[in-house]
Amino acid sequence: MNQNLLWWQKGIIYQIYPRSYQDSNNDGIGDLPGIRQRLDHLQNLNIDAIWLSPMYPSPMHDFGYDVADYIDINPLFGTMADFDALLADAHERGLKLIIDLVPNHTSDEHAWFQESRSSRDNPKRDWYIWRDPAPDGGPPNNWLSFFGGPAWTFDEATGQYYLHQFVTQQPELNYRHPDVLPAMLDVMRFWLDKGVDGFRVDVIWLMMKDAQFRNEPPNPNWDGVEPMFSLNHIYTQNLPEVHDLIRQMRTVLDAYDERMMVGEIYLPYDQLITYYGTNFDECHLPFNFHLILSQWTAQTVRQLVDSYEAALPEGAWPNWVLGNHDQHRIATRVGTDQARVANMLLLTLRGTPTSYYGEEIGMVDGHIPPEYVQDPPAVNQPEIAHLIGRDPERTPMQWDDSVHAGFTGETAVPWLPVANNYTKVNVAAQNNDPTSMLNFYRALTTLRQAEPALHGGSYRAVEPNNENVFAYVRKDGEGNGRSFLMILNFTGEPQEVNITDLGEQAIITLATDMQHKGTVTLSNLPLAPNEGLILQL
Ligand code: GLC
Repeated sequence: MNQNLLWWQKGIIYQIYPRSYQDSNNDGIGDLPGIRQRLDHLQNLNIDAIWLSPMYPSPMHDFGYDVADYIDINPLFGTMADFDALLADAHERGLKLIIDLVPNHTSDEHAWFQESRSSRDNPKRDWYIWRDPAPDGGPPNNWLSFFGGPAWTFDEATGQYYLHQFVTQQPELNYRHPDVLPAMLDVMRFWLDKGVDGFRVDVIWLMMKDAQFRNEPPNPNWDGVEPMFSLNHIYTQNLPEVHDLIRQMRTVLDAYDERMMVGEIYLPYDQLITYYGTNFDECHLPFNFHLILSQWTAQTVRQLVDSYEAALPEGAWPNWVLGNHDQHRIATRVGTDQARVANMLLLTLRGTPTSYYGEEIGMVDGHIPPEYVQDPPAVNQPEIAHLIGRDPERTPMQWDDSVHAGFTGETAVPWLPVANNYTKVNVAAQNNDPTSMLNFYRALTTLRQAEPALHGGSYRAVEPNNENVFAYVRKDGEGNGRSFLMILNFTGEPQEVNITDLGEQAIITLATDMQHKGTVTLSNLPLAPNEGLILQL
C-alpha cells in the first residue's frame, strides 16, 4: 500500500500566514524575506511542503484574499525576486512550495473588475456577476455574504448589483463566461512555470452559482448565530457544474510533473469525496476539516475517522487538518495539554496532515483588544465578533522572548498584538527543553517520516473498552512490516484501557509527555490525563 507514494501523500504540509510569520523590514507585517530567514526552523520540523496564504498585491480588505493582481507580489511582502529566492531556497532544502489560488473572486481593484464596472457594454462586463435590481430596487435575490449583510452591492454608475459572498470589495468572477476560466488557467501556468509545486484553492466549492439566481430556502437547523447560515446554500455552493471547472484546472496541473491541488471545501463526507473526481481527475486532496468542526471526544473523533475511511473511494488519498487561519487554534479549542494528543492524532492518522504555523509550539488564540479588531466578519458583525473573528488565530509567530516575540523589530508595531504567553511559549525556549511541545512535534514528524506504517500503512480502529479513549492500529504491509498502536486519552482525567486482541505487551515508541518509556501491558493499562501513547506492536 505504501509503495510509490508521491510527495504530497507521504509528506506533511505546513501553512504559513505571511503577514504573521516573520517581519524582515520592521513594518510590523511579515514578509517573504522573513519566511526565508526561517527555513531552518521549517526544515527542523521535518515538514515537506509549505503552503503560503496569499502574497499577491491586494488592498487587504480580506487580508490578501482580495487579489488585485494574480501574477505579482504585494510590496508589503517583498518583490517577485524575493518570491523566486524563497522558492529556490525551499527547493534546495527539499521543501515544496504550495501557493494559495483565489479564483472565486478578485479584489474590486483588479484590472478585470475595473474594466467590468466601467460600463455595461465593456467586453469584461460579464466576467463578473451583475444583475438588475429587484422590482423594488433592492438586491436581485436573498443571497447572503459570509461576512454579514446581502451578497449584493449596488453600483451607482451602471445601475446594477454585483455579487460578492465575502466583503463588498471581493466581486465574484463569472465562470459561465467562456473567457474567465482560461484566464485563470493562465494564472496557474504562470506559477507552475516558475516551479511552484501546487495550489491550495480558495473556496473551490463556491465557484459556480445557480444560472437562474433563485432565492435560497431557509435553513431549518440554523443555530441563530451567523445570519449567513440562516439559509440553505443550495444555489451558491457545491453546484454540479463546478466539477467541470475543477477538471480543467487539474488538466493544467497534469501537464507538469508531480504538482498538486488541495481544495478548500467545507462539506459532509459524502459530498466532499466527490471533489476527488469520478476518475480522480479533480482535487488531489479535498481538505478534510472535520477534526476542526466536530466535538472533541474520543467517540466523536473515532466515528468521524471511521466514517471518512469508509466513505473514501478506493484509491482516494485521505488528509487531516487541525487548524487554519479561519479557525480558532487547536490549543485554544481543546486545551494546551490535549493539543499534544491532537497532534499525535493528526500525525498518526492515515493521510496527509496539514499543520498551521504555531501549532508546533502550542500557540493559543491571542487576545485582541477591541481597537485592534481587523477581520472583516468581526468588524461588520460586532455583536458576534467574539465568536467569529479570525484575528485571534492570526497573531504573530512566537520565536523568542524578546519584545514582539522576535516577530518584528523592537520599535515596530506588529499588525496584530503578540499573544500574552509568548515569553514562555516560543521557539527558542522550546528548543532548549527536551520535552517541549516543539520537541514533541519533531519527534512525531520524525517518526511519521521514518515509519512506513505511519505515512503509508493501513488504519484500523481497535476497542479500548473505555469510551474516553480512541485507539487504532497503523500497519505496514510492505516496507519493514511494523505495526503501531495509538492509544489516545481525550480527557483530562486518568483512564484505563483493556486491549485484548493485540497481544499482551507492547513497547512505548513515543508518549505525549516524552518521558513515559518502556514496555506496557495492554490489559489494565493506565493512562495519565491527556496522555497519548504510540506503541510498537
Ligand atoms: C477562504 C479563506 C478565507 C477568506 C475567504 C474569502 O475561506 O480561507 O480566509 O476570507 O476564503 O476569500
